[in-house]
Amino acid sequence: MTDNKHPVPAEPSHGFGLEYAPAPESTSIVSIDDDYGLFIGGEFVDPIEGGAFPTISPSTEEHLANVASASAADVDRAVSAARRAHTDVWGSMPGKERAKYLFRIARQLQERAREFAVLETLDGGKPIKESRDIDIPLAAAHFFYYAGWADKLEYAYPGRRHDSRGVVGQIIPWNFPMLMASWKLAPALAAGNTVVLKPAETTPLTALLLGELMQDVGLPPGVVNIVTGAGETGAALVDHRDVDKLAFTGSTAVGKQIQRTALARNVPVTLELGGKAAHIVFEDAAIDQAVEGVINGIYFNQGHVCCAGSRLLVQESIADSFVDRLKRRLATVRVGDPLDKNTDVGAINSSQQLAKISELVEVGVGEGAELFQPDCALPDRGFFYRPTILSNVEQTHRVAREEVFGPVLSVLTFRTPEEAVAKANNTPYGLSAGIWTEKGSKILWMADRLDAGVIWANTFNQFDPTSPFGGYKESGFGREGGLHGLAPYLSLSPMKGRS
Ligand code: NAI
Ligand code: MG
Repeated sequence: MTDNKHPVPAEPSHGFGLEYAPAPESTSIVSIDDDYGLFIGGEFVDPIEGGAFPTISPSTEEHLANVASASAADVDRAVSAARRAHTDVWGSMPGKERAKYLFRIARQLQERAREFAVLETLDGGKPIKESRDIDIPLAAAHFFYYAGWADKLEYAYPGRRHDSRGVVGQIIPWNFPMLMASWKLAPALAAGNTVVLKPAETTPLTALLLGELMQDVGLPPGVVNIVTGAGETGAALVDHRDVDKLAFTGSTAVGKQIQRTALARNVPVTLELGGKAAHIVFEDAAIDQAVEGVINGIYFNQGHVCCAGSRLLVQESIADSFVDRLKRRLATVRVGDPLDKNTDVGAINSSQQLAKISELVEVGVGEGAELFQPDCALPDRGFFYRPTILSNVEQTHRVAREEVFGPVLSVLTFRTPEEAVAKANNTPYGLSAGIWTEKGSKILWMADRLDAGVIWANTFNQFDPTSPFGGYKESGFGREGGLHGLAPYLSLSPMKGRS
């Protein structure tokens, strides 16, 4: 179907032979040790049983370091250190003193931002322009934001007693390692809890550098403990009887297991799980901006984003021309070395994730979707996947239902706003959604009906520490960011005997 109102633009500029020269970021600012211990009680210690695992750079497959694997006995040691620190120091420290430490952490993160950004990109494969401009600045912003609340809890929750919960167990994924660490640590520490944090096994290095930073700012030993390891280490933390609260970000399957354990032990838990966001474009939208928004919505961070706009729902009257524009725009996206400052799409985080993405795309094509991938050169080594558009996708296709967690956009169409809502909500997930239309009343009408915790209008993937983030249904429950994100780290009760 042609669309005369929105003619497809001429060939993009790179079609005229204008290429970017390589602009690699130097790695000389980071120094990586051969081996890393566990960060327990303010020191790096060897694991009790001596296990270790390698972490590699997914863009080169180069071995970066061996990292200690924490057993249940190590997790026990970390929880005991956290308990002591809570009882002896942190739980009773005045809020304004705790705030000073959080401000110091935030300022140190800013001071050392380039080092953290380069290490994040080396260990995880995300483009340096994202770790430099988004991940690390936002991580610092979370510490600044919650530092501000640490001495104002009585104003945050007026008329209620606020007690810290005690020892918090936190498990984070590999897609935003430092950002997820700060989303978890900053509110927990501001509220007066001590923490045992388990980073993901493919991206442990920035969390360990954060351990060093905690030493540098003089954080009392045991307030933050970092136990590296795979799923078993996470499970040992979830199972530990002396943990007072759990917080998890990751896959829905693991989230369900954690919820079962937490329920059985009556431990409060917050879960931030997967998503399958609908990104809805109406025929009256600002088309050029919508194209940029949809591209950013799915190819940001290689699509390893729980709130990624992975299902494009485009109004049928503009569908063909809109998808043409997306394809032309996608052909200009630069895929490759994540340390190059011009790279838009970096490396897939692991060979396992690459296999999962390839398999799901094959299934999609087998089910009848039409495949588009730009004809870009990929590096010889490392884990890379061409950014992909699957059009003619139907609701029943697996690529429309399952989280791909990769640079793959599925395109579906709709005719009316009612149909857009019905299709958008036809998913077990409910994390985020995007709406593109020039009509404000349509935005509000849609937002009222979409089952999603976060809804962006005429933009996508905007994050801010003051704004709560979280999902419904199989995307989990609980919010992170803002006062909503602080409350789960406090036990709030009615104020008694107040005159
Ligand atoms: P995962 O859920 O297994 O890993 C997340 C974290 O949980 C890691 O730190 C991991 O070590 C830990 N973990 C694993 N098993 C555990 C257990 N039984 N108890 C406690 N902790 C445990 O995710 P995975 O396997 O890395 O990725 C698989 C899929 O999950 C992805 O393809 C993607 O679809 C989804 N995912 C979603 C994320 C999100 O932010 N919503 C983040 C990571 C993965
Ligand atoms: Mg790695």
